[in-house]
Amino acid sequence: MVEFNLPANSKYKPGKTHKAPDGATNIRRFKVYRYDPDSGENPRVDTYEVDLDTAGPMILDALIKIKNELDPTLTFRRSCREGVCGSCAMNIDGTNTLACTKATEDVSGDVKIYPLPHLDVVKDLIGDMSNFYAQYASIKPWLEAQSPAPPDGERLQSYEERKLIDGLYECILCACCSTSCPSYWWNSDRYLGPATLLQAYRWLIDSRDESQGERLDSLEDPFRLYRCHTIMNCTKTCPKSLNPAKAIAEIKKMMVARRM
Ligand code: SF4
Ligand code: SF4
Ligand code: FES
Repeated sequence: MVEFNLPANSKYKPGKTHKAPDGATNIRRFKVYRYDPDSGENPRVDTYEVDLDTAGPMILDALIKIKNELDPTLTFRRSCREGVCGSCAMNIDGTNTLACTKATEDVSGDVKIYPLPHLDVVKDLIGDMSNFYAQYASIKPWLEAQSPAPPDGERLQSYEERKLIDGLYECILCACCSTSCPSYWWNSDRYLGPATLLQAYRWLIDSRDESQGERLDSLEDPFRLYRCHTIMNCTKTCPKSLNPAKAIAEIKKMMVARRM
């Protein structure tokens, strides 16, 4: 069934409609991107009618209900359903966010769900995160210390030193920010993007780390750091209310400071 008028040259073909059970009275329509690269078919958008009276309150609850009751072929990632694992990140109602912390009642009209933008699609709502994780690994997201640890093994921080990583350590690597960033869309092969740069800053300002110079050297590159043009999409979309744009600005300040 054709649900909406597609432009003649659209790569999306009209999708299928999956009806709610007879007797359902509180129906919302979920329009969900479907694509299986192995099928050889073009992407489509399927429509699912969900009875909200028998669904949990979050978008992820509705997706799980769809998979359990309407269409077991729908594919998406999820794990914690608490906003801490980052695996259910997707584009909902035009914004990158977490399906498990976004309430259905906060979306008006049909609920439109797509994978995170500008990632290769593995299947349906699952984007290929390989490049994102490789970039994360490239900034060495672990403590680097050459000096021997104190006899008790604990490298202590003062209260003030520990405070410096607030607003950074909470990042769950969901990639909502990086996949909302136009600079990352066009240069994701060379620009590290806001999530990885926020993580880079988290280690740059850790008082226990002894590789600050090497870390800054590795970012001193026209693409890895300097493709950020302060567009701020990243900070607007972060579902954990973090500020990757500020972290990037702080790294740039560190770069300037060490040249003086
Ligand atoms: S502030 Fe920088 S990282 Fe954030 S969206 Fe804009 S260009 Fe991308
Ligand atoms: S900064 Fe926010 S949006 Fe970006 S990866 Fe971390 S938690 Fe996700
Ligand atoms: S399922 Fe873990 S963040 Fe949504």
